[in-house]
Amino acid sequence: MNAPLIDPFARAITYLRVSVTDRCDFRCVYCMSENMNFLPKKELLTLEELDRLCTNFIDLGVQKLRITGGEPLVRKGIMTFFDSMTRHLDAGTLKELTLTTNGSQLERFASDLYAAGVRRVNVSLDTLDDQKFADITRWGRLPQVLRGIDAAQAAGLRVKINAVALKGFNESELPSMTAWCADRGIDLTWIEVMPMGDLGNEDRLGQYWSLKDVRRAYEDSYTVTDLLENTGGPARYVRLEETGQKIGFITPLSHNFCESCNRVRITCTGEIYMCLGQEDVADLRAPLRNNPDEDAPLKDAIRAAINLKPKGHDFDYSRQKLDGQMPRHMSHTGG
Ligand code: GTP
Ligand code: 5AD
Ligand code: SF4
Repeated sequence: MNAPLIDPFARAITYLRVSVTDRCDFRCVYCMSENMNFLPKKELLTLEELDRLCTNFIDLGVQKLRITGGEPLVRKGIMTFFDSMTRHLDAGTLKELTLTTNGSQLERFASDLYAAGVRRVNVSLDTLDDQKFADITRWGRLPQVLRGIDAAQAAGLRVKINAVALKGFNESELPSMTAWCADRGIDLTWIEVMPMGDLGNEDRLGQYWSLKDVRRAYEDSYTVTDLLENTGGPARYVRLEETGQKIGFITPLSHNFCESCNRVRITCTGEIYMCLGQEDVADLRAPLRNNPDEDAPLKDAIRAAINLKPKGHDFDYSRQKLDGQMPRHMSHTGG
């Protein structure tokens, strides 16, 4: 029996987020620049390496595995990887296998994901307006994503929408997005925009819409009750009594949730980032590739990395200036 992963602040690491590609079929303006240079394919972990890496983390006590990107469903052969993870669900060692997706490929993959044991998907969707959707994703098509969401629900997957709260962009859509989700039994979580990646022309502080204000906007129209449940993710939830629906808030900037952090992230090249908003990083690809028949060096490297986990992120929008800017893109670390 392997000892579980405990970081220097006594937090158990049970949630692994794995980016399987830096590519995406959209270019959301807060996430990527228009002309992204994607990594050469040989830099990426192979599907077999991803399997071995995740399996070792599961040996070390990881119970929740979230596949991210870029857009995870554009990675060639990705269903082979999901299918290979089913054995850990069947064995009861993995409690949840899930993904965060832009929804563009869900129409094609929803039932295969369900068959692999996925029960929940988080879909990133910032607007329900066709033109605004095309603008924010640079060329995405909203109907394709909406069909993907329908397909996911028809396949039996629970859907959660993640919307980045953007001042002057989706502020006016709060009532309509909330009602749309309520009609479909979909949970909705708002995320504060984080200063990830140098996008050239963006104004993060200008885009920043504090979720304290989003909550106030809800309180103007609904009876808002705090829920104490913890899904193992960073969101805090409230219930809107009038609709019975759950709304989540991911507030890295206005309310830090780091003290209960339970997760680490793997990039598509096999680096481990101990925090989304910190530069601490370690390489797991070398111990993986250099020891094809032996897992002990990889497990040692994982433990050594967990020992570097910082107390919390460095993001800060206070004093009307932007601190804690991370040079890497969200699509690199996997959100
Ligand atoms: P649930 O299992 O549904 O609770 O999912 P989740 O919120 O853990 O995962 P999801 O991929 O939906 O997360 C949504 C977004 O929240 C991510 O893309 C990030 O933008 C942000 N987020 C998640 N975890 C962290 C974290 O540890 N730190 C920070 N700063 N942001 C995070
Ligand atoms: N700040 C907050 N959320 C972001 N995402 C991408 N870039 C950012 C950012 N700079 C979100 C996407 C998606 C998830 C993977 O991360 O909208 O919901
Ligand atoms: Fe793609 Fe998601 Fe980034 Fe948008 S936020 S460009 S959908 S990875």
